[in-house]
Amino acid sequence: MNEFASGVSDTDIPLVQMRGITKSFPGVDALRNVSLDLYAGEVLALLGENGAGKSTLIKILGGAHAPDKGSLQIHGNSEVIAGPVDARRLGISVIYQEFNLVTALSVQENLFLGRERTRLGLLRKRQERAQADALFRRIGVVVDPDALCRSLSVAQQQVVEIAKALAVEARVIIMDEPSAALSPREVERLFAVIRELKAQGIGILYVTHRLGEVMEIADRAMVLRDGEHVETRPVSELTRESIIEMMVGRRLSEEFPKKPASIGGPRLVARNLRRGAVVKDVSLEVNRGEILALTGLVGAGRTETARLIFGADRMESGSVNLDGEKLVIRNPRDAINAGICLLTEDRKQQGLVLGMGVIENFGLPNMRSFAPWGWISQLRERRAMDGHIDRLQVKISTRHQQAQTLSGGNQQKVVLAKWLERNAEVIIFDEPTRGIDVGAKYEIYQLLNHLADQGKAILMITSELPEALGMADRILVMREGRINGEIRAVATATQEQIMEMAVE
Ligand SMILES: Nc1ncnc2c1ncn2[C@@H]1O[C@H](COP(=O)(O)OP(=O)(O)OP(=O)(O)O)[C@@H](O)[C@H]1O
Ligand SMILES: [Mg+2]
Repeated sequence: MNEFASGVSDTDIPLVQMRGITKSFPGVDALRNVSLDLYAGEVLALLGENGAGKSTLIKILGGAHAPDKGSLQIHGNSEVIAGPVDARRLGISVIYQEFNLVTALSVQENLFLGRERTRLGLLRKRQERAQADALFRRIGVVVDPDALCRSLSVAQQQVVEIAKALAVEARVIIMDEPSAALSPREVERLFAVIRELKAQGIGILYVTHRLGEVMEIADRAMVLRDGEHVETRPVSELTRESIIEMMVGRRLSEEFPKKPASIGGPRLVARNLRRGAVVKDVSLEVNRGEILALTGLVGAGRTETARLIFGADRMESGSVNLDGEKLVIRNPRDAINAGICLLTEDRKQQGLVLGMGVIENFGLPNMRSFAPWGWISQLRERRAMDGHIDRLQVKISTRHQQAQTLSGGNQQKVVLAKWLERNAEVIIFDEPTRGIDVGAKYEIYQLLNHLADQGKAILMITSELPEALGMADRILVMREGRINGEIRAVATATQEQIMEMAVE
């Protein structure tokens, strides 16, 4: 970084300076006159509600979108980023939520992909190997360069992405919701890596919806609302409450609106579920009116357990009863007909048809209820959807806006709306608030309360421990394919208590 030192200290000039950035899409001003400074060695948290413009701003920096207006300086020099190649040349690396790794290739091959070398293959391989080892040493994480990316966990893939950024000598690393698919432990490791990068003078722009992370890792926080810059402040001056207020523009009286529940007898009873090495032996009961949280580390078998109950995978053995009746579930259709629904964590793969409009997506699983005589009652469909869009504050420009052009969180909300319209008795939520902003999280929590109030049985898979502690009536902790612990006195329980059950 010394090539830039010309009498002025490195820390005085921002690494990145964006001024007056404006960007519109058909029907929406995604960014209006937004400015940003990012300094070497700092973590700047980029915050805002779903659809506020965070990803758009990042894509402009990464060369994926061109701004309509605005200017950019990199270390004091005016620059134009016309595409990803420019961004890379300027030392900017973006780690998008959908990684750009070629999963069929090894870690090492991914690290040096697209880099031209004319030397003999073998020599090159050896050099790259040494370089890969050095990169991972620099990050402080052990990853086998020969492993196929496909075989890595999300956390490991993320580390490879970071190594890839370092391999091209990135000075600015942008992370769009990097912790969304990580367990608490993996987030800690990511933070250790980030601290290491900071110490090496790299500037980090960090997008997240988790306020705890902002307090822990960020130096400054910048808030966008409806495409406009609200405020940028040092985190030392902020509290959780003040960040929420900056984001939503009003005070939230509480983060978790848990209501005292009246809990009845067992509704969903799963016994000795087994499948392969992932679900070794799981029994659980969800009672009438109860919100049961199922937590544990990523890979503990929580999603897989849900998939067995829902019939998305075949169980090798085990049984599922609903209201005392034994169910025969061979596929999701059987489950849905029996009154069980599953809101998946992976909206991209399982929840939405990205090429279709919002209302078309909404109608998909609801064909029967909207089409009692074989055609879809458009009016009913529209009314139902409008209600959900309102309640969940989904930000769309028209009902027919293509799902793929919605912000990440808004896509999640459409998936939610779509399933809520079904009248299920048992509802399994897999990470229901992942990627969802605080304001809408609150709405989802109220929705959970409301469903519980109606006597439904709710199973909520969550990695966010504050959420489990804040909303559940009871918590089960999974570890390596089994239930490893139960917490009944949720009100007095702690995150540490859950973590202990999750790891040992
Ligand atoms: N390609 C596109 N075409 C049309 N509209 C778009 C496109 N990309 C983004 N938008 C719109 O621009 C606005 C900002 O979206 P953006 O993805 O930047 O939000 P975000 O702050 O990242 O939200 P989230 O927290 O949900 O990820 C949204 O209203 C979104 O629907
Ligand atoms: Mg986004």
